[in-house]
Amino acid sequence: MNGADRYAVFGHPVAHSHSPWLHARFAELTGQRILYEARDVPPGQFDAALVDFVAAGGRGLNVTLPHKLAAVVAADRLTARAVRAGAVNTLSVSPEGLLGDNTDGAGLIADLERNLGLSLAGLAMLVVGAGGAARGVLPVLLDAHPARLAIANRSPAPAAELAARLAAEGPVEALALPAAHGPWDLVINATSASLAGERPALPDDAVDGRSVCYDLVYAAGPTPFLRWAAARGAQRTADGSGMLVEQAAESFSLWRGVVPPTAPVLAELRQRMARARRS
Ligand code: ATR
Repeated sequence: MNGADRYAVFGHPVAHSHSPWLHARFAELTGQRILYEARDVPPGQFDAALVDFVAAGGRGLNVTLPHKLAAVVAADRLTARAVRAGAVNTLSVSPEGLLGDNTDGAGLIADLERNLGLSLAGLAMLVVGAGGAARGVLPVLLDAHPARLAIANRSPAPAAELAARLAAEGPVEALALPAAHGPWDLVINATSASLAGERPALPDDAVDGRSVCYDLVYAAGPTPFLRWAAARGAQRTADGSGMLVEQAAESFSLWRGVVPPTAPVLAELRQRMARARRS
């Protein structure tokens, strides 16, 4: 594609990233000409890879694990939401330098509100986990005006620290994981337990028929947390594939100035993941 603007995702590992497919679909659906590749960048090599990419005319980057903090340091300027999340997942190359942004939180809210049809204001919310993923989504959840937002983590100290840091921004509290008793309207698993085939040890009454349960992790099949939530009678369960599509769309519109359609792309992504699971 001669003359097409170049974009990439840097991560490690990155081979199974859906981002190249997502951005290619967005480009097709909006009539944009872009080239988007996945580049495996091992820890410690982010800065050098970034310099190469920009020197070769790269226009924008998505940044995934383990480089989201390296991207904060590499950016010349940060958006307010990147500062609040303490992480960068999107870099844009401009004449004024590298702009670091974070579209993960906006992606989650778009998925919850637009795709799952939730009204977030006034809900009792429980976020499980206190690592980078939780830090990234807590500020936008507080912006949505919950009645209550609890953070429960296997080790209590990081949850208490996060709650203290966010206390001025809304009704946030830390709970011990076994004490995270419901009722909760929305339970978000922001731990990495699903990646290890595990689920956080929530009390059985954390989830009931009113709870919408969401796992930030996306996988070909339901995660252990979502299987448990369904067995507890959760009103609805969803994995992070909608958030993945929505955060990508937000990055695409930052770079290209065009908002791509997400619903058909999410439906196609789910079909692709189901096919991959069967084969
Ligand atoms: P991420 O950036 O994905 O959030 P992280 O910063 O390594 O990753 O944090 C992982 C989170 O998942 C932590 O909150 C961790 O809990 P601890 O702080 O107690 O370690 C949580 N986690 C991982 N495996 C878990 C499990 N099996 N049960 C409960 N929590 C788990």
